[in-house]
Amino acid sequence: MNLRPATRADLDLLQHWDEQPHVIASDPNDDWHWELELDRTPDWREQLIAESEGRAIGFIQIIAPAREDSHYWGDVSANLRAIDIWIGEETDLGKGYGTKMMQLALARCFADSAVTAVLIDPLVSNTRVHRFYERLGFQFIERRQFGDDDCFVYRLNRADWQPGSVR
Ligand SMILES: CC(C)(COP(=O)(O)OP(=O)(O)OC[C@H]1O[C@@H](n2cnc3c(N)ncnc32)[C@H](O)[C@@H]1OP(=O)(O)O)[C@@H](O)C(=O)NCCC(=O)NCCS
Repeated sequence: MNLRPATRADLDLLQHWDEQPHVIASDPNDDWHWELELDRTPDWREQLIAESEGRAIGFIQIIAPAREDSHYWGDVSANLRAIDIWIGEETDLGKGYGTKMMQLALARCFADSAVTAVLIDPLVSNTRVHRFYERLGFQFIERRQFGDDDCFVYRLNRADWQPGSVR
């Protein structure tokens, strides 16, 4: 498994993944504006494609929420990162790919010694994914409304991050 930058060449793939029911269920209210965003590389964001044996499996975005331009997370510390993740094809769910993707993404976040913690915001309704994050060491912080989305906020502090481990 490796993570590489998403590029304009991934446009059709990302739009195809956006149409998959499990992807829609996890993020029904966002338009990712791929046509525009794949041509942008702001310094507060990484948009990454996860590949296994050369095959694209899923997508991960890492942002610095304090500097993200829509200010989605509000007023937060400069030393945080926030992650979005999905596997593209339903047939690739539940095979361990997501765990490996998160381990790589977390290693990438914490490689910056200034980063103190990583945030995620699954929908309250996405109960299966709560376990997924808890196994990676994330702790529940609060229930929070983001626009139309009723979410749980989870946080993984650097001190609770164990590279390569899942509880
Ligand atoms: C969440 C996700 C990235 C995990 O990747 P994965 O490769 O399926 O997960 P792994 O095989 O490493 O681990 C299995 C765990 O993933 C979670 N999971 C599996 N399928 C899932 C699904 N359709 N939706 C949500 N979580 C799922 C469960 O916690 C599962 O553990 P369980 O079998 O004990 O319930 C992936 O399931 C996915 O893309 N789900 C849909 C999109 C999504 O929910 N993204 C997160 C939004 S915050």
